[in-house]
Amino acid sequence: MNSATHIAIIMDGNGRWAEMQGKKRVKGHEAGAEVVRKITQYCAAHEDIQRLTLYAFSTENWKRPRLEVEFLMKLLNSYLKKELNTYIKNNIRFEPIGDLRAFSSSLQATIKDVKTKTAHCDGLVQSLALNYGAKDEILRAVNKIRKSEDDITEAMLSNALDCKHDVDLLIRTGGDHRISNYLLWQSAYAEFFFCNTLWPDFTIKELKKIIKDFTKIERKFGGLK
Ligand code: IPE
Ligand code: IPE
Ligand code: MG
Repeated sequence: MNSATHIAIIMDGNGRWAEMQGKKRVKGHEAGAEVVRKITQYCAAHEDIQRLTLYAFSTENWKRPRLEVEFLMKLLNSYLKKELNTYIKNNIRFEPIGDLRAFSSSLQATIKDVKTKTAHCDGLVQSLALNYGAKDEILRAVNKIRKSEDDITEAMLSNALDCKHDVDLLIRTGGDHRISNYLLWQSAYAEFFFCNTLWPDFTIKELKKIIKDFTKIERKFGGLK
C-alpha cells in the first residue's frame, strides 16, 4: 500500500467561497487560514505523513488588486505569529519555500522567526509556498549551480531547489484541473486529486477519503507492476 509521505495542496477557492455568501473575497482567505490550521494538525498527528506543502501565495498572485495582496500579507503575518506555539507544541517544523525577498522586512522577520524557532521540531514538516512559482524555483536553482564545471545532474538540481522532496499526493481544491506553476519538478510522479470543494469547505473527512483512495493506486514509476 502506498504511503502519502509528502502531501502537497493547491488551496484554491477562497474568493469564490466568500462571494457565494455575499462577502468580500478576503473573508474567504480568513476562513481558508482556519482550514490550514485544521489540516496541518491532522497531518501532524499522523506519523506516516511527513511533509505537507501548501500553496499559499504564487509568484503570479501579485497581479491581484493591491488591497487583496495587502490583506494576504497581513493575514500571513498574523497567522504565523499566532501559530508559533502550536507548531512547537505539535512538533511541527516550518520550512517556507519560494522567494521570500519580495516580502516586507517585517514579514520576512516573522517568517524567519517561526522557521528558526521550529528548526528543532522533528515531526511533520509544514512548508508554506510563499511568493512561490515552480519556474522561478527551477531558474533560481539553475543559477545557483550553473558555475559548476561538471554537468548538472538530477541530484544536483533537486538539491538546489527550495523543495527537495518528491510529492506523493497532490490535491487541488476549487474545481480547476491545473497546477498553476506549483512543484513542477517534484510532482513528476505525484498522484493528482482534483476536488470541487472550495478550500474553506475542505474537511479532514475529505482528506482522509483522498488518502484512502491514494493508498490503493498502483504506482509504477514507469516500470511494470
Ligand atoms: C486561493 O484562493 C488562495 C490564493 C490564491 C491566495 P483564491 O483567492 O484563488 O480563490 P478563487 O479561486 O478566486 O475562488
Ligand atoms: C493557485 O491558485 C495559487 C494558490 C493557491 C496560492 P490561483 O487561483 O492563483 O490559480 P489560477 O490563477 O486559478 O491558476
Ligand atoms: Mg483561485
